[in-house]
Amino acid sequence: MALEGRDLVSIFDFSDREVEALFDLADAMDEHKHVGMKVADGSILCTLFYEPSTRTRLSFEAAMQKLGGGVISVADATSTSVAKGETIADTVRIIESYADMIVIRHPLEGSARVAADYASVPVVNAGDGAHEHPTQTLLDLYTIRREKGGLRDLSVALVGDLRYGRTVHSLAFGLARFGADVTLISPRGLEMPPSLLERLEREFDCRPSQYHSLGDIVTDSASVRRRKGSQKALATELLATFDAVYVTRVQKERFESDDAYQAARRGYAITQDVLAWAQADALVMHPLPRVDELAYELDQDPRAIYFRQAAYGLPVRMALLAALLGKRPVKVKRARKGDYRPEPRHEVDFRKMAQLKCPNPLCVTNHEAYLGPRFTFVKRVSDLVACAYCEQEVPSPLGAASRG
Ligand code: NCD
Repeated sequence: MALEGRDLVSIFDFSDREVEALFDLADAMDEHKHVGMKVADGSILCTLFYEPSTRTRLSFEAAMQKLGGGVISVADATSTSVAKGETIADTVRIIESYADMIVIRHPLEGSARVAADYASVPVVNAGDGAHEHPTQTLLDLYTIRREKGGLRDLSVALVGDLRYGRTVHSLAFGLARFGADVTLISPRGLEMPPSLLERLEREFDCRPSQYHSLGDIVTDSASVRRRKGSQKALATELLATFDAVYVTRVQKERFESDDAYQAARRGYAITQDVLAWAQADALVMHPLPRVDELAYELDQDPRAIYFRQAAYGLPVRMALLAALLGKRPVKVKRARKGDYRPEPRHEVDFRKMAQLKCPNPLCVTNHEAYLGPRFTFVKRVSDLVACAYCEQEVPSPLGAASRG
């Protein structure tokens, strides 16, 4: 299936081969990124941001301008009719008459799916609450491919706030699809949600090892030297296995109170001492912005590639825009055995679901009143259904064997 006209709401929306074809196009875009490639002359991109952003919005806007297109932008939605109570559905139906594509960032989970459902132009999710951030994952995978020469057989550690970090939610699946060995390291209370772990195993046979202890050790690098025995051995052995260490900040804006945030963030930091145990060619990655989880002293280390990673956002987003707008052919190769390919989502009969409400308080369906309940069947599990917007899984009120 061609990429032209498609939405990118979730990392599940593109097949493995489509992701790779997009990266081939990004390689070509990278060669032209200084002079640009005027293929989207006359097209307009709207960036609709209800949450702060530097890299994502600016790199999308720069990418569109490099392609010769124009940009209209809502950088602070509180200055628009949203402040008067306009819904996402109405907002995107207005924007589609001015723009050929919409990139949306919104604090509610499932909001980008709503935008995609209501807009007739392609919609790209630039982050919907703690749910997903698929274009960050594209540029993360692209970075690994460029720096490591491929995406197969990698060992990657995801470190930090794995509970609320949307980048790592999308990335864990992106990595698992290409067969990576994934290790999760998070402070207590900020572990990856169990439903995501179950899905990783169910759909991709990926069972990440999980640690807090490495987190404890990296918290206080002096203690690495003091500590003896198995804990230290475990941490150093582990660090030596990673091709990439992907660090994230604690997502302050998702906590209910500042106290809860302060308690959760209490010290973990990657320092030069910690990196002493890592491979000589390991990549230290971060979606940025950083707070204090990556010491500035690391910036000089050749393994610290987070600024280069952010720079790759430009060719990747140029490729994505050109592909979705149909301005550049994307050569998608035939799928290999075991490749991931999106499948149609089977919805549960609406009448049977009418009583079911998504239990996630941050799901868009609990904030935008016109949205009815919509649930899809969960692959390989008969007694669960998932919210069609935020993907929260709930027991099926129809019981097991309810499909059909
Ligand atoms: C990330 C985000 O917005 O989720 N930032 C980004 O897009 N590069 C990561 C973060 O804010 O921590």
